[in-house]
Amino acid sequence: MPNQSKHLCVVGIQWGDEGKGKVVDVLSSEFDVVVRYQGGANAGHTVKIGEKEYVFHLLPSGILQADKVCVIGNGVVIDPRALIEELDQLRKSGIEHEDNLWISDRAHVVLPYHRALDQARETAASAGGKIGTTLRGIGPCYTDKAARLGIRMIDLIDAERFRTMLQRNLALKNAELSKVYGGQTLEFEPILEEYLRYADRLRPRVRDISELLLRAEREGRRILFEGAQGSLLDVDLGTYPYVTSSNTSFLGLGAGTGFSQRRVGTVLGITKAYSTRVGEGPFPTELKDATGDRLRAIGNEFGATTGRPRRCGWLDMVAIRYAVQLGDIDALAITKLDVLDGFEEVRVAMSYQLSGKPIESFPTVLDPGLEPNYVALPGWKKPITDAKKLEDLPRPTRDYLQFIADESGCPISMVSVGKDRSATIQLRPWLEPGPGRAARGVHA
Ligand code: GDP
Ligand code: IMO
Ligand code: MG
Repeated sequence: MPNQSKHLCVVGIQWGDEGKGKVVDVLSSEFDVVVRYQGGANAGHTVKIGEKEYVFHLLPSGILQADKVCVIGNGVVIDPRALIEELDQLRKSGIEHEDNLWISDRAHVVLPYHRALDQARETAASAGGKIGTTLRGIGPCYTDKAARLGIRMIDLIDAERFRTMLQRNLALKNAELSKVYGGQTLEFEPILEEYLRYADRLRPRVRDISELLLRAEREGRRILFEGAQGSLLDVDLGTYPYVTSSNTSFLGLGAGTGFSQRRVGTVLGITKAYSTRVGEGPFPTELKDATGDRLRAIGNEFGATTGRPRRCGWLDMVAIRYAVQLGDIDALAITKLDVLDGFEEVRVAMSYQLSGKPIESFPTVLDPGLEPNYVALPGWKKPITDAKKLEDLPRPTRDYLQFIADESGCPISMVSVGKDRSATIQLRPWLEPGPGRAARGVHA
């Protein structure tokens, strides 16, 4: 990222799966430290290098590069079983960078009762009450954190402390599982034994990471912060209650690391050239028709964590503008532009209407009856994956990018035209927004 600022934060600005893994992998060569700061193994970040594809759930996507310090911040909820599985998977691929990894001693631990409760709540919820979670125990773990019941990494690696806390928590959780949900209870000894094994493996990697990051900053090293999920899934500012349980926007960085957000400098917002959402919740531009199916098939829109088909639709400029504003986004990376290659026209929602009443800004509650007002732009009907610079793209593709910059009011610094590292165009200078939006009279 060619910019004046030293550190960079990468955040998704839709409902997740924007291609953050790929963008972080591409950019990480310019940074010394890569940090995950919120979410947990609900995330699935894909990095494709040559024929090999890696999906990271907890590990920062910089872990593939031998010389990067990788950090899991205190804001992440860590399922040690999932983390160790990921490390073992990497080892099998011949990548042994475990010594580069540091895990916050303050990060909370996802335990089997969190997963069981996630499942029980989703199963018990009425049709409208289901969130469509990833069932990774994320909500119940963050619930315990806020309730001050949580077990942290520092507790896990202290066998006696862990035993006591697990005993207390399991009694409470078993009561909830059996009495509230009528489900199976969990046994104490097998969990204790399994998690003490994980503790032995992870103990050397656990430390205070806020101190590590501050030192890196003082030594002049560059830090790349890797957000998980997307801004519209933010527990405070997203489409609540159909959200995840952490601050997925830029807001999560400070609390999730202890690193001053004021020192970060640049925030890069990632958006696909269209929209997707997985799980329940409102999605104004969703296409439940052949066009939606076509986007899913061409974009291979199936969850990297759960394999669920992703819901697909056109780009939603109302949502993008909202996410750009709340995240104080400095520049956009537009991903999966190649997925639109074959389309005759490309649509973008510019505003909504509800029973004929116009809605220009992203509402706190998205009524299921919201209808998007689209503009249609010409498609380009050419493959673009080989493009190496902006000028290589067909005119209608460049017009689409300029349109996104104009209408979001945010420059574009990167365009992704394929899965591979090499299918990336870094824009130097950035593609700046012109007067398009005002000139077209779209906005008052
Ligand atoms: P993340 O959660 O934001 O890291 O995104 P995911 O990895 O869940 O989903 C993005 C998917 O799109 C992955 O399979 C990526 O390999 C793929 N991808 C990323 N960028 C591009 C692109 O520009 N074009 C295409 N066709 N695929 C891409
Ligand atoms: P990445 O980092 C897309 C969604 C779930 C569900 C809601 C709550 O790969 O972009 P949770 O299990 O977190 O309690 O589920 O959030 N969700 C994601 N959707 N990408 C993700 O991560 C997601 N992580 C959670 O589908 O709707
Ligand atoms: Mg993903």
